[in-house]
Amino acid sequence: MTTPAPLSMDSIVVGRSARMRAVFEFLRVIGNSDSTVLVTGESGTGKEVTATLIHQSSRRKHHPFVAVSCALFSETLIESELFGHERGAFTGAIKDRPGRFELAEGGTIFLDDIDDVPLSMQVKLLRVLQNRTIERLGGTRTVPVNVRVIAGSKRDLKQMVAEGKFREDLYYRLNVLPVALPPLRERREDIPVLMEHFLERYFRRRGEDVPAISDAVKQAFMRYAWPGNVRELENACERIAQTCTCGTVRVGCMSASILFRAGAQPPDVSTPAASVPQEAASISLDDRLRELEANLIRWALKVSSGNKSRAAELLQIKRSTLGDRINRCGLGTLHVTAGDSGEVAAAAPLQ
Ligand SMILES: Nc1ncnc2c1ncn2[C@@H]1O[C@H](COP(=O)(O)OP(=O)(O)O)[C@@H](O)[C@H]1O
Ligand SMILES: [Mg+2]
Repeated sequence: MTTPAPLSMDSIVVGRSARMRAVFEFLRVIGNSDSTVLVTGESGTGKEVTATLIHQSSRRKHHPFVAVSCALFSETLIESELFGHERGAFTGAIKDRPGRFELAEGGTIFLDDIDDVPLSMQVKLLRVLQNRTIERLGGTRTVPVNVRVIAGSKRDLKQMVAEGKFREDLYYRLNVLPVALPPLRERREDIPVLMEHFLERYFRRRGEDVPAISDAVKQAFMRYAWPGNVRELENACERIAQTCTCGTVRVGCMSASILFRAGAQPPDVSTPAASVPQEAASISLDDRLRELEANLIRWALKVSSGNKSRAAELLQIKRSTLGDRINRCGLGTLHVTAGDSGEVAAAAPLQ
């Protein structure tokens, strides 16, 4: 049997930020260890893809990698899913069925969403991790399992232990080799490489080369907060690859919701005490609020290229309300238009 070429870490998990480089370095160090790994990170930060990478770079790589989300099963089903069952163990158990641990024999099991495992099941998992044996539901045999365990959690398990929601003994069993994946907003340097990686993937799938990407699109990607992390960025790229037929990726090819939220930052609406003259006898709250309102409306109209429906959406008010406020603030004659850059370019009537 020929040995496959060593897997490049970058081929599955992309990242060049210092935070991700530190993660890659740690993964290299633990490469051939058989110890349990706990991968933590918000949803979409790449826990599963990291677990795959750990498996692929270990000596278990020619054996199965079995991923299971513990959040997908009810309290009763999860036990049968993980440990299997014998025929007749419960209604509907018409034949013997191996669980995921047995299916992962010789390889790695990734228990994602371990934070969703109910306390009653946590004790059973602990026993498996300690004894390295399982018992199928309704079975009498004890089956030894040779499986490396990687657990994934979106919540801070230590905190859950403090709150009595997670068993402390299980936490220590799992947290042997901790890998913490930072949210995308804390590693913005990774955005351009991830963008390139996914656009390449999805345009190739369409049988095309990646077209040029406008600077405005790159800037919008950099500005956006990506609350859904890498998963959301990947979906945004897939969408662009599906809809862009204009030869260049422009802001018009992007999802409006991302574009809006990545738009120019709203003006700083705070009124620092220092900006109010010390000697002022009084300030008019109404005037200040009106000023603030006008600034926010101007901003929303600018970001949405003068489209009132979109501006109203941004300000979370009805379009008719926006119309009233525009008149009240004396902005009725404001003319804006925006080019691909999102910058106001020349005068044109409001839509
Ligand atoms: N650093 C990364 N490089 C390449 N793809 C990534 C990276 N992080 C996440 N992904 C991709 O983003 C999506 C979500 O990742 P996943 O591992 O399922 O996240 P999680 O399990 O933390 O919710 C997957 O399609 C995955 O391939
Ligand atoms: Mg996951």
